[in-house]
Parts: sequence; structure tokens; C-alpha cells
Amino acid sequence: MTPLNLFAKSTVASRLLIAILLVSFIFTAAGTLLQLYLDYRTDMSFIEKQLQQVEEGYLKSLAKSTWDLDEQSLRLQLDGILQLQDVRYLEIRTELGQSLIRVGDRGGDRIQSHLFFLDHPYREQTYAVGTLEIVMSLEGVYERLWNKLRVILATQSIKIFCMSAFILLIFRLLITRHLTAMAAYARGFNLERLDQPLILNRKTGPQQTEDELEIMVNAFNQMRMNLIDDIDRRHQVEEDLRRMRNYLDNIVNSMPSALVGIDPVHQVTLWNRQCEILTHIPALDAVGQPMARVFPRLNHLRDRIDTAIRHQRMMSADRITWKDPDGSRYFNVLVYPLSANGIEGAVIRLDDITEAIRIDAMMIQTEKMISVGGLTAGMAHELNNPLGAILNSTQNIFRRLSPEFDKNRQAAEDCGVDLVRMNDYLGKRNILLFLEGIKSSGERANRIISNMLQFARKSNSSKELCQPVELMERAIELAAGDYNLKKEYDFRHIRLIRDYGTDVPAIPVVPTEIEQVFLNLLRNAAQAMTDHRKSAPPQIVLRIRPDNDVVRIDIADNGSGMDKNTRLRVFDPFFTTKPVGRGTGLGLSVSYMIITHNHQGTLEVESTPGEGTRFIIRLPMSADASADA
Ligand SMILES: Nc1ncnc2c1ncn2[C@@H]1O[C@H](COP(=O)(O)OP(=O)(O)O)[C@@H](O)[C@H]1O
Ligand SMILES: [Mg+2]
Repeated sequence: MTPLNLFAKSTVASRLLIAILLVSFIFTAAGTLLQLYLDYRTDMSFIEKQLQQVEEGYLKSLAKSTWDLDEQSLRLQLDGILQLQDVRYLEIRTELGQSLIRVGDRGGDRIQSHLFFLDHPYREQTYAVGTLEIVMSLEGVYERLWNKLRVILATQSIKIFCMSAFILLIFRLLITRHLTAMAAYARGFNLERLDQPLILNRKTGPQQTEDELEIMVNAFNQMRMNLIDDIDRRHQVEEDLRRMRNYLDNIVNSMPSALVGIDPVHQVTLWNRQCEILTHIPALDAVGQPMARVFPRLNHLRDRIDTAIRHQRMMSADRITWKDPDGSRYFNVLVYPLSANGIEGAVIRLDDITEAIRIDAMMIQTEKMISVGGLTAGMAHELNNPLGAILNSTQNIFRRLSPEFDKNRQAAEDCGVDLVRMNDYLGKRNILLFLEGIKSSGERANRIISNMLQFARKSNSSKELCQPVELMERAIELAAGDYNLKKEYDFRHIRLIRDYGTDVPAIPVVPTEIEQVFLNLLRNAAQAMTDHRKSAPPQIVLRIRPDNDVVRIDIADNGSGMDKNTRLRVFDPFFTTKPVGRGTGLGLSVSYMIITHNHQGTLEVESTPGEGTRFIIRLPMSADASADA
């Protein structure tokens, strides 16, 4: 509240004051004039009365004295008359106009002259004896009027001044200071001060009806309350909007799909969390940018997206492939045109179907392995007995031809044959070599069959916790010392890049089986280098990393790679592209069985012809997981 300042400038007060002054001046002036006029009239009638008094009291005796020419008496009487108020000059003239006697002073401006005829009765006759002139001075009248005027003016001025000051004070006290306070309140009014009501520094009586100021104050405060209500309502609406926005954001960001919103000129308007993960570009950097810059991988779909927006039709592109350092990824792309509420553009939805494709492929492979594997194992089982008989018999033939045993020599002697010379014959006719051939072929068949038997057999060796890195290192040693491999390609010429994670846990496996898998893969990689010599030096990247609840092992070479047909069949038993004797087509199928069937893991292949091949093994970290799987 501003302090009370009675002398502050107030235009309304001064205007009011001027109006009051003007009106009271006019009324005062009119009143004064009337007053003066009435006073003047009174004075004039007083003069009249005096003349009448002279006429009645003196005129007769004056006429007699004039008749008698009694100058002394005349003077006496005239002196008496001169004493009367306002009488200034008296002169008596004879009938003939001669001045008989005069008293007083005639001079001066404000005078009024009266002439009386002096008649004197004599013997029943009346004779005109002369005239009396009385000159009355109006000086006194005017002076009295003037004094009155001065008094009136002085008192009125004082009255008006006092009244003005009083009005000013009252006006300021009752109105202006409150108006100023209201103005100050209104000027300083803002949202922070919404809760401070306007209160005037004034006493309000117990009157029933509110005065104008109170009406104003109430109106102000009502306005304030309305504002508070409005703002509350607006806050509520904002809160609702915010909550709705959060909810929508949540939906958009919790979606497993990547969502990109674009306008008709392909500027990004929406970039959800999945999109950030996919591109490693935060939404803040992506929104507002041209999509070609932040998502160049979709550039080849540009025309189709445009068509979708233009014709307001949904567009889809399935199984789009992206090459990642970690291997290929597959996406289904859906483009929805937007048209509602004047918002134009489209939403692009990307669904990562890599996993689904992987599982699909795995299921197909597993089915195949189960059917083919069952058949293979059955065949192996059936062939195992005759093959055993062949190998056994061959072994026996060698033993029974040997001259070192007494029993053989005895039997030969009984038949009259020299064992040594018979061996010479067998050697000469290459029969021993044939037998050797039967033996080694039998052994090879035996190895194949024992591999084939793995398809049916659930590993009976027990699992133990092993470090995948150690198993890999042992497999590398075996590969380096592998005699058959050395004949084709020296494993030591291959550059091995070991990319082992530091936090790889030990996992429950049958170590010999996993070593065998690693060895198979390393051997295949080395063979793929032999077949394909190119400018880049041969190398194999070995990567072992924990990945959620599995350990992932990548073996990637830069060898020949394979075409799609080969890639789709590599895990098939007996599928090989290698010449007879060099490949059996069992290495990968056996590995596949070991990883998926015996260890509940997965084995996948990715390959680009001419560039290289990557095998990906995933092995569960805990035995429980593998039992559930
Ligand atoms: N690292 C590799 N690079 C290129 N091709 C490969 C690779 N590994 C396997 N293959 C292909 O897969 C086929 C099957 O392999 P595998 O089952 O080990 O049988 P084998 O090695 O006896 O041919 C091979 O013949 C070869 O064509
Ligand atoms: Mg092989």
C-alpha cells in the first residue's frame, strides 16, 4: 500500500476543484451583486427619506425665514440640515434666482441635486418665495458598498480556499489514494502474485450496500479468481497433454520396431528408441535432418516411399539385408502414409527379423538333421557289423601270413609250403598291397561310420566347466600339428587374429567334442584358403564373447566363401564340394549335431562368395539352460 500523500498531483482532484471553484465563484459573484444592489437600494431610499424629512420638517420654516429675509435663522437651519447624513451642499435662491445663502461644498463627482420650491402663505394667498437646492453626496453610499464588497470578497475567498483544501483532502483521502493503490496493484499484478488479493487501506463501515470503490475492489478480486480458475484449468489441460504425450512416447519407444517419421520432403520428424539403437544416432541429432543423411540404408527405398506418400497407400519391403560387422541382418520395412489433420508424410516401421530367420533356418536344419541323421545312424549301425568283420578278417589274414608265429610255420610245413617264399610271392603279385588297401579303406570307412554314429548317439561323456578360450587354443595346436592338413596347406602360414573377451566365463561342455568342432571349422577355413588364393594374406579372426546368457564364438576366414546353394547345404551330412578322399561332407554335420544336439547351442554360417565365411557358435552358459532347451 502506498503511503498517504495528500499533496501528490491528482488530475481528477484538480479538475474537480477547478469546477467547484468556477461554480462557487459564479454563485458568489451573483450573490454579491444581488446583495450590493439591495444595499444600494436601501441607501438610496434612506436618502429619499431624509429629503422627505427635510421637506416635512424644514421647508415651511425655511420659506418663512426667506419671506422674512432672516438670514441668521436661515443659516442656523441650513447648518442643521447639513448635519444630516450625505447632505453636502445647500443653497437658497430668491424667486428671481439670486443666491441668498449657501452652506457646504458643492464640488465632487458623485452628487445628486434636488430642488424644492419654498412657498409662504400670506393673507389667504400662497406666495413662491424662492427655491432650496440640496446636493446629496453619493460618496458615502459608494464607500459603504465598496467596503461591503471587500468584506464579502475576503470572507468568500477564505471560505472557498478552505473548502477547496478540504475537498482536495477528502477527495484524496476517500478516492484518489485508493485509485493510485489500485493502479499500483494492477501494474504489479502477475502470475506470481495471483494469491495476493487487492485490499484497500480504508475503513468500511457496517453499511449494507457496498460503495463504488468496494465494487471496484471486488471486481478486481473476482477477475483474479477467474484468472486463477482459468490458469488451473489450463494447467490441468497441460498436465493431461503432457501425460498423453508421455504415454504416446512410451508406446512409441517401447515398441520392438524401429520407427522413423518423415515429412513429405523426407525430413525426420520422429525417431524412436529402437531407431537410436539401430543407427547409434540419438533422436536429438536425427530429428530435423534429411533421412538420407541419418538413415542412408533406406536410400534405395526413396522412390517407393515417395509413391506411398503420394498415393496414400501402404508399402512394404520384406527381407531387406544389411551387412553389419557382426554378420547380416534382415529387416521387414513397412511404410504408412500419414494424412490426418493436415500432417503429411509417412511413418517407416522396421522390424528386425534376423532372429526369426535364424530360428527358421535352424528349425529346418534340425528337422533335416533329425531325419537324415536317423537314416545315417541306422545305416552306420547296419554297416558297422560287416565292416567290423572285414577289418577283423583282414587283421587275421595279416597275422596268419606272418612267419613269426610258430602256429603259421607249423601249418605251412604240414602243407609243404615255405612261408617266407609264399610272402615273396604275395609281395610280387601285390597281394599284400591289396590287403593293405582293404585295411586302410576299411579303417577310413570305420572313421566315417563312427562319425555317422554320432548323429544318433547322445553324448555319454559327461560335461565339465571349460574355458572356451582354452579349448580354442588347443584346437589351434591340433590344427597346426595336423599331418593331413599340412599336406595341403600349412596352418602356420595363416594369420590368426585372436579377439577374446576378457570376461568370458567357463561353460559346461564335453571338451573333446567342442575341440573337435573347432578343429573341423579351422580345417575347413584352412582348406578354403588353399582353394582361393587372393591378394589379401590369409587370416582367420577368432572372436569369443559373452552375449547375454550364451558365449558366442565366431570363426571368420577370408577364404573362398561360398555361394548360396552351398551355404544352404553345408550342414547336410555327406555334402561336400571337395574331391573324394579329401572331403567326406561330415565335418560340419557332425559339428552341428555336437553343438545343437549335445550342447543345446546353435551353429550358423554366413558367407559371401569371394570374401569369406563366418561360422557362429552359441553355447549356453549354464547347464540348466542347456537342459531346458
Ligand atoms: N570355411 C569355409 N569356406 C568355404 N567353404 C566351406 C567352408 N567350410 C565349409 N565349406 C563348404 O562346406 C562343405 C562341407 O564341409 P564339411 O562338412 O566340413 O565337409 P568337407 O570339409 O569334408 O567337405 C565343404 O565341402 C565346403 O564346400
Ligand atoms: Mg571339413
